[in-house]
Amino acid sequence: MSKGEKWVQPDPERTNWYWPNETAKARAWVSDPAVYEKAAADPESFWAERAEELDWFERWSKVYEDAPYEFKWFSGGKLNLSHNSIDRHVKAGKGDKIALIWEPEPADEEGRVLTYKELLAEVSKLANALKQMGVAKGDRVGIYLPMVPEAIIAMQAVVRIGAVHSVVFSAFSAEALRDRMLDCGAKVLITADGYYRRGKPIPLKPNADRALAGTQVQKVLVVKRSGSDVPMESGRDVWYHEAVKGASETCPPEPMDAEDLAFILYTSGTTGKPKGVMHTTGGYAVHAYATSKWDFNLHENDIHWCTADVGWITGHTYINYGPLMNGVTTLVYEGTPDYPDFGRMWQVIEKHKVTVYYTAPTAIRMHVKWGEEWPEKYNLSTLRVLGTVGEPINEEAWLWYFNHIGGGRCPIVDTWWQTETGATCVQALPGMGPFIPTVAGRPFPGIRAAIVDAGGNEVARGEGGYLVLQPPFPPGLLRGLYGDVEKYRGTYFSEYGPGLYFTRDGARMDEMGNIRITGRVDDVMNVAGHRLATAEVEDALTQHALVSEVAVVSRPDEVKGEVPIAFLLLKKGAQPSDGLKKELIKTVDQHIGPTARPAEIYFVDDVPKTRSGKIMRRVLKALVRGEPVGDVATLRNPESVEELKQAVGYKS
Ligand code: PRX
Repeated sequence: MSKGEKWVQPDPERTNWYWPNETAKARAWVSDPAVYEKAAADPESFWAERAEELDWFERWSKVYEDAPYEFKWFSGGKLNLSHNSIDRHVKAGKGDKIALIWEPEPADEEGRVLTYKELLAEVSKLANALKQMGVAKGDRVGIYLPMVPEAIIAMQAVVRIGAVHSVVFSAFSAEALRDRMLDCGAKVLITADGYYRRGKPIPLKPNADRALAGTQVQKVLVVKRSGSDVPMESGRDVWYHEAVKGASETCPPEPMDAEDLAFILYTSGTTGKPKGVMHTTGGYAVHAYATSKWDFNLHENDIHWCTADVGWITGHTYINYGPLMNGVTTLVYEGTPDYPDFGRMWQVIEKHKVTVYYTAPTAIRMHVKWGEEWPEKYNLSTLRVLGTVGEPINEEAWLWYFNHIGGGRCPIVDTWWQTETGATCVQALPGMGPFIPTVAGRPFPGIRAAIVDAGGNEVARGEGGYLVLQPPFPPGLLRGLYGDVEKYRGTYFSEYGPGLYFTRDGARMDEMGNIRITGRVDDVMNVAGHRLATAEVEDALTQHALVSEVAVVSRPDEVKGEVPIAFLLLKKGAQPSDGLKKELIKTVDQHIGPTARPAEIYFVDDVPKTRSGKIMRRVLKALVRGEPVGDVATLRNPESVEELKQAVGYKS
């Protein structure tokens, strides 16, 4: 049970509103709301002050520069992300402090603990090994690793030598990996033989082997994790442990320009092709560092556990760079929350005395289903701050999290942000509040956000609209999409011009300035915390030889948030069957990965289309959601709607 120090108190008048108590305020980095006004009056100085806390090899000459579509932070400054994450602390005498705790999935396997000094040695060895393989500043390195310490070591080693990492989620398929490696032109891939999932070793290297044909990858480093037999291609594949054996433990960090590319991370847009979001060094470092510190109120003895996968931006920023730049201990967990039983996460919190727990609403809803008897078995009194990210959190999940995990003691910091923003942008800070179910909070100090209508005009408080970010843009905001300037401008700035970054989220703001996010306004879904475009699932399904046409829409799901639903037209002569459904699921697995599997596949004769032949996904969406279908008279084939109503069991 979560008995322990109290950090919040209820609002005397408003049900389910909470504020930090005096203990929380006293311990918080920031508790005086004046920080918002001060930062708003001079955001550049605000961010420069945050930047001062990091190590710079050379100081910046200009804090912020804004030209249309091309803004810059800390121009002229030189720094290194790995130096700031590790060396800085070792130099400050904290080398023996634990930087990383690794908890393997098998509960009886001993994990791994790395001090900052040990992490520095490991990162330097790999950095030297990469150099030896010919990786130079600016080269791209793919990382396709499960949740093992080497995933963090690899990212750190890559940025240490000024190369650029592109991490690919290990549950993505070979094809998804190939697309990303081809797009970024990676020279080296770091992967593993396999990993553990629910007690079984799962192979990973065979996926990498299938992915690499035709790419520019010349060398593959393979971490031995599961011990399974994997073929090694001579001349190309090298065991990680052999490559680092004997490598020097000293590797000077490369001084990077603040605007040098640090990493590329692919994410889903509205088309079938993922976009390579580019993050640069200085702005990202400062944004990741400052938000980790203030959002979670990180102090010297914190044990920070972010449950995201390293394949997502949350893993990049809040498992790796953010906590390490703050010199705290970060926890990396290999497995799933339900193995060996539903109490696994709570057992890990008890075992490692976790103080900050950061997870996704979809995970919380899963725990709600499994019941509070699981967390009740464990001592969760070390918890101080709870976080959520990735999708709007419903009130029931929020309250369950607050009461059963936080014991009614801990604030819930609901952080809104995106792969594109690099770090959090909207949240209620632990020393500031208020903590309100379904409401994220205020823009982080120094960040300007507004809710606007389709014309870009701010809407009145309380009214719904679109969330936009205003200049100076957040330091961590993407600087482009790899190899596609037009797409970058079109995706984020076509609606309102270069002066407003369009988040593609709907939102409203209350009188106090707190923002409630209502969800995406485009065809991007949030499936169990994974960002996915309906177009990607459509593209995957059309690859099947018997499919003639596909429409995919999202349907709300109690646990996963949203799930894809597919409507399929088969080619002449093909017959619908359960066997075919299984094959189609396999096709999705092959092209994207199991996270993208449709929850339902409907074989239909027709889908509603406009007179110009465009599929009316709006109608399909209404059908699967049981919402009013609206006027269908203008469709080319209004009769198709009746057939579909029957197929989906529509009741209005
Ligand atoms: O719709 C918003 C939702 O997740 C989207 C970004 O997804 P992704 O790039 O995968 O990054 C997720 C982790 C940062 C946003 O456009 N989202 C993220 N956080 C929240 C959220 N929706 C509501 N509340 C949040 N706290």
